[in-house]
Amino acid sequence: MKFRTVAIAVGAAAGLPAAAGAAELNMICSADVVICEKLVSEFESGHPDVEVNMVRLSSGEAYAKVRAEGRNPQTDLWWGGTGDPQLQAASDGLTAEYKSPMLPELHDWAVEQAETAGYRTVGVYSGALGWGYNRDIFAKKGLKAPACWADLLDPALKGEIQIADPNSSGTAYTALATLVQLMGEDEAFEYLRALGGNVAQYTKSGSAPVKAAARGETGLGIVFMHDAVSQSVEGFPIETVAPCEGTGYEVGSMSIIEGGPNPDEARVFYDWVLTPEVQSLMPEAGSYQIPSNKAAVASEHTPDLSKIKLIDYDFAEYGSADRRKELLARWDAEVGGRTAE
Ligand code: G6P
Repeated sequence: MKFRTVAIAVGAAAGLPAAAGAAELNMICSADVVICEKLVSEFESGHPDVEVNMVRLSSGEAYAKVRAEGRNPQTDLWWGGTGDPQLQAASDGLTAEYKSPMLPELHDWAVEQAETAGYRTVGVYSGALGWGYNRDIFAKKGLKAPACWADLLDPALKGEIQIADPNSSGTAYTALATLVQLMGEDEAFEYLRALGGNVAQYTKSGSAPVKAAARGETGLGIVFMHDAVSQSVEGFPIETVAPCEGTGYEVGSMSIIEGGPNPDEARVFYDWVLTPEVQSLMPEAGSYQIPSNKAAVASEHTPDLSKIKLIDYDFAEYGSADRRKELLARWDAEVGGRTAE
């Protein structure tokens, strides 16, 4: 799959035409690459007439690509990743209005995401933010297990934490917006500056920090809880934490790109990927989000949101172009580059 994706990208860059008669779908996928590849192969086996060209980009990078393509879009569909950048793309008019016949089958939170965006996006999954820590590293170094956001500022954790950069990563933007909503904006930036003293590095992708913790390269990764769970299900010594003060969550989203070259194929994929059968496949790829179709079967490993103290995350505000730009600019000026080194 990877090889073919690259080969097609080269062909497209060289301006080579697609094979005669073959329908295509150009897709950005902003969730974990394993589920991205599974969706592509499942779709292609059920739709042998459509060839999918998929590229995996973190949510913020995907937004930048869709924006850069502007009036000459090459992308048809953007599946997965956090909802905030997709809401921003919707408010920029970069995504197309579409009311899928599947909408009545979806949870309210997924439909509300669509309503917020004038039906230019829709919710595909949900999951809460938290962290995963490596219990072996913590035990070996005699570190106290952090239960609360406040505990992450413990000087004993210097150099033990990774989190992504919110410019590229939707996970890290969710963390930024969550802290602003929990603490107030000035207090959240003060917190993030202090946290920087314990951060070893800001990664590009949102789930990379807990994958590093699983491999023992760092003690703790601030990530979506389901990303920590997938490491423990794989057998790594990762403990998953829901922060005691409360936490935010994502409505992972999907959008059709306005003016994309293959709108019919985009709608076929859109309706297909919202079915309970397809959404129920996610755990097979180690993805433990809550699916948006009410009839989809979530995994026994999926974190139970009803047991987590969730904030009332304001998607309309934090997905708006002005607010997202403003918070990212402030993060660059006050937090970016601050690490334990
Ligand atoms: C992981 C999670 C998804 C999330 C995505 C965001 O793949 O499993 O639920 O939407 O990260 O990725 P990003 O790299 O933009 O933080």
